Amino acid sequence: MPFSKKESLSGRKNKGREHRRRTLTAKDIRDRPYLEVEDVVALNFIRHPSRYLFRRHYRTGLRSHLFEVLDPGDVEIEASGIRIGDHLSFPRARPLKMLRLFRARFMNLDDALQEIARVQLIMRHLSPVHVARSDELLVDYRLGKTREILLCGLQEYVNGEILNPWGTLDDRTLAEMMMRASPASAGLKTAHPPGLIENVKSQAQSFVSKVKEMIVQAGHIPDLAGIGNLILTADGRLKLVDINNVSPVLLDRTVYTDDHGYPVCDKSIEALVLLERKILGRPLSENDGIYETFLEPLRMKAVAQMVRDLRLSPEKYA
Ligand SMILES: Nc1ncnc2c1ncn2[C@@H]1O[C@H](COP(=O)(O)OP(=O)(O)O)[C@@H](O)[C@H]1O
Ligand SMILES: [Mg+2]
Repeated sequence: MPFSKKESLSGRKNKGREHRRRTLTAKDIRDRPYLEVEDVVALNFIRHPSRYLFRRHYRTGLRSHLFEVLDPGDVEIEASGIRIGDHLSFPRARPLKMLRLFRARFMNLDDALQEIARVQLIMRHLSPVHVARSDELLVDYRLGKTREILLCGLQEYVNGEILNPWGTLDDRTLAEMMMRASPASAGLKTAHPPGLIENVKSQAQSFVSKVKEMIVQAGHIPDLAGIGNLILTADGRLKLVDINNVSPVLLDRTVYTDDHGYPVCDKSIEALVLLERKILGRPLSENDGIYETFLEPLRMKAVAQMVRDLRLSPEKYA
């Protein structure tokens, strides 16, 4: 086989985890496909009643449960409306924070601290402009008679549209996305303000160079490929919200796969290339060592096959 696979640390630990998974009851929130607000407020580390309200976020991912932390006053206005001039408006309550309950299991405290160290790598390179800042918390999760380490995050909420690197990203589409993200433009078909496209391009340029800096200086890359991981804000900022699937960048023929068997590093580099090509309209520089390794046609073919294989067996995503 021309390309060898390197499983993530968590992938290697999967066997042990599988065994533990079977022995844990379905009450474990990390095994549940989704949670209700009642499940969240019943958690031993969540104060209840509290001055905030929780609501399940309408977008979901594979690795975390995401809940909006809301001000009850905003929820009240959302339900009863607010009069502005002649109009009664029902603005959606904007989360004060996002509560992230991470599904991953940790063997011990050191394992959990390593995950936080990877999050800190992202923060060091992409914060504050290009990543949603997050306070990461390790809590003692009470599960029957046992206690487990659970990683949670209280993260800045990013209002905007999902940016899919594989989608259409021409100037017009970007402008439409930013207009949709802007609450002021709701329902209006106005022309986008001058300078908006220039701004998104310079933000994308800055995002790409910060990620490259992280690859070169820290040897790691965040997951840029997962659906919904990148958000475009109304003012043209490109922000990463998913901070929990950081992979090592191995400049050899090893294809790193995450705990779901997904070649996340290769796909994230591909996403970076697409952002450069589509938003910045930049041809790839020949002498870019990172791209040379990852964009090698045979390697890309092998990676595409790995992704197809995963799609053929959806139980691998479970
Ligand atoms: N801080 C945030 N602000 C706005 N949307 C978010 C935030 N965090 C996550 N989301 C949205 O929730 C969904 C799942 O989030 P993600 O972080 O990708 O979870 P997972 O780790 O499960 O992949 C995504 O569509 C993402 O856009
Ligand atoms: Mg994600």
